[in-house]
Amino acid sequence: MPETLRHDVLIIGGGLAGLRAAVAVRDAGADVAVLSKVYSIRSHSGAAQGGVNAALGNHPDGRDDDWQRHAFDTVKGSDYLADQPSAEILAREAPERVLEMEHWGTYFSRFPDGRIAQRPFGGAGFPRTCYAADRTGHQMLHTLYQQCLKREIAFYNEWLLTQVAVHEGRVEGAVALHVPNGEARGVQADAVVVAGGGHGRIYARSTNSYINVGSATAAVFRAGVPLADMEFVQFHPTSLYRTNILITEGVRGEGGFLLNTEGERFMARYAPDAMELAPRDIVARAIQTEIREGRGFDDGYVALDVRHLGEPKIKERLPGIRQIAVDFAGVDPVERPIPVQPAQHYSMGGLACDENGETAVSGLFVVGECSCISVHGANRLGGNSLLETLVFGRRAGERAAQVASSGRAAGAETRLIQSVGEQEREIEALKERPSGERQITLRREMQATMTEHVGIFRDEAGLRTAVDRLAELRDRYGTVVLDHKGRRFNYDLVDVLELRGMLDLAQVTALGALERSECRGSHWRTDHPSRDDQRWLRHSMVSYAGTRRPEVRYKDVVITDYPPQEREY
Ligand code: FUM
Repeated sequence: MPETLRHDVLIIGGGLAGLRAAVAVRDAGADVAVLSKVYSIRSHSGAAQGGVNAALGNHPDGRDDDWQRHAFDTVKGSDYLADQPSAEILAREAPERVLEMEHWGTYFSRFPDGRIAQRPFGGAGFPRTCYAADRTGHQMLHTLYQQCLKREIAFYNEWLLTQVAVHEGRVEGAVALHVPNGEARGVQADAVVVAGGGHGRIYARSTNSYINVGSATAAVFRAGVPLADMEFVQFHPTSLYRTNILITEGVRGEGGFLLNTEGERFMARYAPDAMELAPRDIVARAIQTEIREGRGFDDGYVALDVRHLGEPKIKERLPGIRQIAVDFAGVDPVERPIPVQPAQHYSMGGLACDENGETAVSGLFVVGECSCISVHGANRLGGNSLLETLVFGRRAGERAAQVASSGRAAGAETRLIQSVGEQEREIEALKERPSGERQITLRREMQATMTEHVGIFRDEAGLRTAVDRLAELRDRYGTVVLDHKGRRFNYDLVDVLELRGMLDLAQVTALGALERSECRGSHWRTDHPSRDDQRWLRHSMVSYAGTRRPEVRYKDVVITDYPPQEREY
């Protein structure tokens, strides 16, 4: 058996949240390594386009902006489900974190006076989204990766987390599969920070890349950390028709219009003041309603028109979008509108933690999309996700470094070696199974179920169907068979191991949606068509229950400065 690796702090996930946490750990003087399923600069953070929010007040229309307004917009956008102290931390720490990224080398777009440019984004009272054309995530990811290289942080690339090692309520490290050679290996650590990203691929239509299946989230869930608010799934209003590649909200921020088959700017009927820059839940529902009521093109999309912006502005501010539309839809936005439809984009729910990312398991931290702090509540504002990775990545990293300095448990290495042995035996048993169902069959059925019944519009009958089908799929998973039995780069094995976690996350999402009999943010129940603060101003919490159906419990929302009001735009 290969020797156990050791670090003070182990980060799982090489995207923005993981890298920001790694930098913070290193700067606090602790030893740290990043373990990631893909090479860092291939992580899904690099696909983020539109920008990162901070109340810098650089825009001529944004001079009165301040962090309190940003916090208020975040809470209102969340349909009052965000915990308000967390939203305040996010907004208050935003300017310092964004300026730090600038000083570390992020090529932000600039106003003529040289300051960082800011564009309007949905649900924001002021133009406060800082951007690097339409490739903001890519720029930020490279900046943080360079900062990690400068600090000589170790990377374990192409390692799949399979188990978080916990003993008597305390984390001891992790077991991971080294995909290139097929060996399971233990990494001992005094603190573990999981920054595994989203799990959008439980849906058939998603802006997420194929790696976003939530394997790390599911491993932490199995290790004893509850999932919170999983029923709140963000559908981005504008993904490219058919391929569902993200078409940034920045397109509407720059002045793009949404049009139906009648040539009408239909947002006037749904959000007369904010129009195309209403929050995402509202714009996604509006587009889906136009399509359902027969005013969409080919029964599947609406038009996103930027022709009036003119070629020079399109080329300067939206070069990536133009290229995507040309390459994947054969449409040059300079000449024709872009065909767009909503698609799953982000999970507001995730692993429950406090404002430093600490979970119910001592020494185990979560950060970024896989976590639920809860800062986004029932609907996240565009531009707050990149920000979350910076603000809470740093906080989690600093706290993890402190925890790691408090010493290590006796016998941890022996226990980890046993866990690696169990993992190897599980893999061998899978390889020896002579026949059964293929993972791709189960995966596609799960994705179709989620898209059909746990989508933008939901009702009890559909959600019950989803819960029952997912239970059946979890049973059938017990018979899954491997087509490829080799050791090296066995992505059939990776897919099988990941599917188990996807089914767990899908089940919790559907269950939470079935129980919540109200409309709030992204969760729209056609059979309960209003928000119900009396009953539902609460976070859902679900703990892992093995093969049994888990129970949904609830926890009150923390309200400080912003009492719930009707949400109008
Ligand atoms: O539309 C976008 O550029 C996405 C931004 C976000 O999800 O924050």
